[in-house]
Amino acid sequence: MGAAADEVFASLDRAGLDDLRWKDGRAFSLAYYAGPEVQAVSDEAVRRFGSANGLNADAFPSLRTFQNDVVATARGWLGADDSAAGFMTSGGTESIILAVKAAREQARADRSVHSPNVVLPTSAHAAFEKACHYFDVESRRVTVRDDWRADVRAMEEAIDDQTILLVGSAPQYPQGVVDPIAELGEVAVAHRLNFHVDACMGGVTLAFMERDGEVVPPWNFRVPGVTSMSVDLHKYGYSAKGASVIVYRDKRRRSFQTFVTDNWLGGLYGSSGILGTKSGGPIASAWAVMRFLGDDGYRELTRRARRAALALADAIEAMPGLELRARPDSTLLAFGAALDPSTDTPLFDVAAVADALWVEGWYVDRQGPPPSLHCTVNAIHDRTVDEFVVALRGAVEKVRASSATGASGAYGTID
Ligand SMILES: Cc1ncc(COP(=O)(O)O)c(C=O)c1O
Repeated sequence: MGAAADEVFASLDRAGLDDLRWKDGRAFSLAYYAGPEVQAVSDEAVRRFGSANGLNADAFPSLRTFQNDVVATARGWLGADDSAAGFMTSGGTESIILAVKAAREQARADRSVHSPNVVLPTSAHAAFEKACHYFDVESRRVTVRDDWRADVRAMEEAIDDQTILLVGSAPQYPQGVVDPIAELGEVAVAHRLNFHVDACMGGVTLAFMERDGEVVPPWNFRVPGVTSMSVDLHKYGYSAKGASVIVYRDKRRRSFQTFVTDNWLGGLYGSSGILGTKSGGPIASAWAVMRFLGDDGYRELTRRARRAALALADAIEAMPGLELRARPDSTLLAFGAALDPSTDTPLFDVAAVADALWVEGWYVDRQGPPPSLHCTVNAIHDRTVDEFVVALRGAVEKVRASSATGASGAYGTID
């Protein structure tokens, strides 16, 4: 005999007690929160469609409609015209994997490329490494400039006749800056290459910053040469986890992403992405949250996240002993310990600051090289950023006084 439902729910709650408490604005990584009303809409959509299966949209036409609407909205955010076409995927990683896969298929078909490589800055997300690993593509990483942006000339020099894709990010994760997309686009056009802009983090924020009159560097399909883009809805779209969009400049490019076979005993099988069975929950959540928020809702959430990010950047710049890696182009930022001018080494171990913050209930990401702490600032932080600045100042003072060292931590784990 199984347990009563109430008992199961109580066990679920107990199991989650030690999890990151992201709804209180003390987590600067991994989760995004736009408040209880948006969360309720998302949760309800997941409840209603979580067991529907996006593998077959003939059987679930609702999911086809949701996906089409979501992709159309994302296309608008990304500055794409009507010839652009895309799909929903399970996340930024799947979108990136598919962009690499599509570029490889196209290069095989059009240019008989046999030993493909991708040219990308050292700042591009780890998901590109995963994609290259899965598809046996060489990852040709090019060191970023001193301002952490892609080095366009060095990337151009890394291109050869086996290059299938150039990559830029808007913004890149580690330091939160937008790569020189317009210049990379020129290189892509000159070499007749596909060019993916990873806007997993910035696709919503940059679009609404622009609509709010902020000056944003060129970052999307309005740049000639950009051939595909990714934008995650489970980040700044504030939907349930498992929702991203990949958009290609045209249907032909998109066709290299899909997979169809009848080479088994089960008949014709087609799928747009990596997954087979695909929960309708995140698809419905993305659609519902987009409808609920509308342009005005996203504009307001973007304003809040941006305000908090800039306030945090200002505070870090003014804080003795810390070095802000770069002014945030959207809402991500990173900082480290300033260098001791006599030894050229960091004044203290910044990972120990993350440890001290965690003791006080604040969670930030640890990354490197160079050793840094990273904050993904979103709408909820507009309420907590001042408190966080006080906690950060206290943590830095404590670590400097004690010479403590900290654990390095990982962005993702394998268990
Ligand atoms: C710039 C960028 N691209 C891609 C990803 C991967 O997204 P996901 O974790 O949803 O697979 C992330 C995740 O943080 C990211 O910051």
